[in-house]
Formats: sequence, structure tokens, C-alpha cells
Amino acid sequence: MATLRLGDKAPDFEQQSSAGPISFHKWAGNSWVVLFSHPADFTPVCTTELGKTAALSGEFAKRGAKAIAVSVDPVDSHQKWIGDINETQNTTVNFPILADPDRKVAGLYDMIHPNSLENATVRSVFIIDPNKTIRATITYPASTGRNFDEILRVIDSLQLTDNYKVATPVNWKDGDDVVISPAIQDPAELAKRFPKGFKALRPYLRMTPQPNK
Ligand code: BEZ
Repeated sequence: MATLRLGDKAPDFEQQSSAGPISFHKWAGNSWVVLFSHPADFTPVCTTELGKTAALSGEFAKRGAKAIAVSVDPVDSHQKWIGDINETQNTTVNFPILADPDRKVAGLYDMIHPNSLENATVRSVFIIDPNKTIRATITYPASTGRNFDEILRVIDSLQLTDNYKVATPVNWKDGDDVVISPAIQDPAELAKRFPKGFKALRPYLRMTPQPNK
């Protein structure tokens, strides 16, 4: 199994899930996808993460994105655990949790890091675009719950920078100023692309209001 890198095609697979059998690329359709792994069912941090993902379902939908979780436990375990998640996190899990007891998905996406956690998936995140290209990856240890607002923020940045010749600076969030791509130097092109103007702190560091706001 090769390490997946940014820009690689997201491997396709067929696997069972809490919502029935999933053919991954077909399930993804034209959406952005957040594929994220968990060490195990009935664990406290994972329970809070899945609850938060469910609570953010409107935010995922706004971005044309779908969430899909994976852990090495079987479907019947996922089904029982979903009851606990809904009850304790006051939400409704409305996205599939892949059951990966044969480690098919974990292997394809290199989610098992045996020097950190033996035999179970660590907290991997893959952000995949509608062309099935891997656009971002994040890996956390089992002991650290992820920040799903950060995952949404990365999707915001990717969707913005796919459409405008900008990049998003430190701690940027939707609506903040952005930086102009250093490749654009022609004054006529700058004026056309950034009609709201820009502030040049250095020739390579030019701030402009977010173009789509
Ligand atoms: C958890 O989700 O709480 C967890 C899972 C595996 C190891 C440590 C914590």
C-alpha cells in the first residue's frame, strides 16, 4: 500500500456501512467528501466527534460536502453505537459509518499507524473534491479529538482558491481578507481580478477583500 499524497486520486472501494453497502465513488457523486477514520466504536472521543459531525450536517450541505466515517468494527456494532451517539450528543447521525473489519479501507488509505496505535485506525481525515482528487489530509492521534470547524474551514479555503487567484492566510476564516497569488503582477490583470483593490505590504504580500463576498 502506497502513501496517498495531495493530488492523488482517492481510491475507490466497496464496503458495508451503517447505511448499507457503499460503492465509494458512486456514493460520492459530485460532492466534496470528508472521509475520516476512528479508532473504535464505543469510545468517548469518537462519540463526541461523530455527534459534532452530525450536528454540522447543515454546514456540510452548504458546501456541497458529505461526511463518511470509518472504523474497523462491524455494522451491528456501528448500529448500536449510533444509538448512544444520538442520545448522548443530542443529535441524529445522518451519514454512513463504514464497517471495515477486513481493514480494506484502512489499508487503501493507510489509516493504521502501528507505531502509534496497534491494529486500529488513527484519526485520519481525507478531503476529496468532486473529481475524486485528494485535496487535504489531516492525521491526529487517538487521544486528540479533531476540530470539525477546522475541516469546514479547509473546505472553504479550497473552494475559494479553486475559483479565484488567491490563497488564504494564517487563521483565515470565511469573510476575512485573503492574499493575492504572487504570480499575478500585471497591473491590468490585478485591477480586473480585484476590483475592490488591495494593500501591498510587500510586493509578494498583497491583501485583498475576499473576492466572492
Ligand atoms: C476515544 O475515542 O476516546 C479513544 C479511542 C482510542 C484510544 C483513546 C481514545
